[in-house]
Amino acid sequence: MDLRQASGEGVDSWQEVTLVYNAALRQIETKMEILNDEFQHVHQYNPIEHIKARIKTPESIVKKLKRHGYESTIENMVKHINDIAGIRIICSFTSDIYRIADMIGEQKDIRVIAVKDYITYPKASGYKSYHMIVTVPVYLSDRIVDTKVEVQIRTVAMDFWASLEHKIHYKFEGDAPEHIRSELVECARLVSDLDARMLSLNEEILVLSGVEENAAI
Ligand code: GTP
Ligand code: MG
Repeated sequence: MDLRQASGEGVDSWQEVTLVYNAALRQIETKMEILNDEFQHVHQYNPIEHIKARIKTPESIVKKLKRHGYESTIENMVKHINDIAGIRIICSFTSDIYRIADMIGEQKDIRVIAVKDYITYPKASGYKSYHMIVTVPVYLSDRIVDTKVEVQIRTVAMDFWASLEHKIHYKFEGDAPEHIRSELVECARLVSDLDARMLSLNEEILVLSGVEENAAI
């Protein structure tokens, strides 16, 4: 069944669903930019390097629903797919990740519904990132729709690794040769080492330049 033919409760057309997810994404993106600007103003420091936002394509929504054994209806996609709207927040240092996650959690209108800390507990692939599924209220003319957004927070180095790993995963359809997989695990270890060393270097620089309060916040 085509997603456009299906109907869900409340949200009854593909266009309307896309509109709502787009609005939710824009709201989270704007919130992040505001927090980043405020942080710059107060601490003369930007925790966020850059932000990427995307809406999942209908093809990949249908594929995911199928993979999980659900019929392709709008109701199922709204209920079971958490990453229709996705935002990736890239920062410089590992400490920024938790700082940003806390700032998101403290926003009154954002509800955190799940957290996966793949930084403390990396995946077997070597993947590291901090994931949050949140909802944000989207105000339409006649109702408010709490809308799910997947937030991925990671460092520039983790993002570099994840992009290449994703490309390799895609190329080999999830079945990369053993030597490539083990090389990726080794690269992930190097990424963690680099992140740790860059963080301590930055903290040392902050202390030397007399702005140690930035490192402690
Ligand atoms: P998906 O069905 O893939 O969305 O995974 P999930 O619902 O079990 O959630 P999970 O937190 O494991 O993964 C969500 C997203 O994180 C994925 O869609 C990817 O964008 C990213 N991700 C998770 N694991 C990996 C990995 O091993 N490598 C890369 N490159 N990205 C990953
Ligand atoms: Mg996904």
